[in-house]
Amino acid sequence: MTTLPVGEIISGRHDSEQVTLRGWLHQIRTGGGILFLQLRDGSGLIQCTLKKDLVDAKEFDRLSAIPVESTIQVSGTVRKDPRAPRGYEIAGDKVTVLYQAQEGFPIARGKPEKFHGTDFLLDNRHFDIRSPKLVTIMRLRACLIQELRNWLIEHGYLEVHVPILVNAAVEGGSTLFEVKYFGEKAYLTQSWQLYAEAMISSVGKIFTLAPSFRAEKSRTIRHLTEYWHLEVEEPWLDLDGLMRMEEQLVSSACQKVRKKMPEELKFIGRETKELETVEPPFPRLRYDEAVRLVQKAKPNFQWGQDLAWEEEKILTEEFDKPFFVSHFPKKIKAFYHMPDPEDNKVTLSVDLLAPEKYGEITGGGQRIHDLQQLLDRIKEEHLKTDDYKWYVDLRRYGTVPHSGFGMGIERTLAWICKLEHIRDAIAFPRLINRLYP
Ligand code: 4AD
Ligand code: MG
Repeated sequence: MTTLPVGEIISGRHDSEQVTLRGWLHQIRTGGGILFLQLRDGSGLIQCTLKKDLVDAKEFDRLSAIPVESTIQVSGTVRKDPRAPRGYEIAGDKVTVLYQAQEGFPIARGKPEKFHGTDFLLDNRHFDIRSPKLVTIMRLRACLIQELRNWLIEHGYLEVHVPILVNAAVEGGSTLFEVKYFGEKAYLTQSWQLYAEAMISSVGKIFTLAPSFRAEKSRTIRHLTEYWHLEVEEPWLDLDGLMRMEEQLVSSACQKVRKKMPEELKFIGRETKELETVEPPFPRLRYDEAVRLVQKAKPNFQWGQDLAWEEEKILTEEFDKPFFVSHFPKKIKAFYHMPDPEDNKVTLSVDLLAPEKYGEITGGGQRIHDLQQLLDRIKEEHLKTDDYKWYVDLRRYGTVPHSGFGMGIERTLAWICKLEHIRDAIAFPRLINRLYP
């Protein structure tokens, strides 16, 4: 028998048709001689009813006691009903239990956060991902990724993939995860960047979507130890061009998500109107100016200190859309950032910050393309030249000015969806204290 997905039914193309659905029993109750079954099938949630007089009394009692999270099959007629959450319900005539669940599904239905603590829900994440909130976020996540990809492909960027297991740090040693590699030390990569710089001389402008790893010792609402990293690298691109590309990419993806999934955004607490301002150009300020703004609220903040979340929060109050902070001091940025020819203390680096206290969602900049300048910076940072030999060699053959950036998918999604914590932007979050489930 062919079954129809719930998503297909709520699209409205099957009104009054006789259909069969298959899925998970999300909620169940009886009232006024009717059995109400909420059926979830991955593509949506729909209410199915069964009138008592359609089956014999014993069967009705048996069905009324099906435990939630049993898998069931329902046949019936599609009914348009303005009171139903998605406009349609199924007037069932046959309900079959396919695999009966045990009693006592660990997570309460409705508003699970009201009944369970955060740790309990995270310990039961393998079940909590069935909750409407997380289902909706995962759908928005897929939409966001698809729209980012679409923009990049439409604008001529090629998707490529590079190693996750690497021999040296990209972003500094303090957040490196070490792994055993046949008697040698290897690391989980923090960024594709060094390989990306090699690949632009092979296939031109490129992007990737891959996991990155950070052994972050901080427990914050915006750090994961494993996150998904959308990274872009482009030859012949300078800092200004980079900012123009980023603002177009971010605006396009954000507007597409807003227009395609307004109900889902609303459901998780984001008013779509709030995202209307996300259009180019994004405000730009230099690190120097950012420091002055921060000092108004925190007079002790010094030029040269990195902008931590506390400082970023202060800056985000000034803007109602994403904004760039550029020209960070050399001391607080990785070795590969190109020093500003007009002021050697700062670099041609840029972060994109999201408003509403979200802060940094991308980091990047223009890279050093001059051989001697790169060797000097590696020495200045006390890094081992041997670890970066091939990377340095790129400057010997066919070097070119180039720029790129990396975007944390979960950070970006958390902002677009107005989430309280980054952990809900990914199905199975990896945090300093969490590797299970
Ligand atoms: O600013 P980051 O460290 O920059 C880089 O890794 C560059 N090599 C990227 C590039 O130029 N190709 O990281 C980039 C982004 C951050 O802006 C943030 O959104 C995200 O990655 N990110 C994290 N997301 C979640 N948890 C963490 N611990 C993160 N660390 C960085
Ligand atoms: Mg950064």
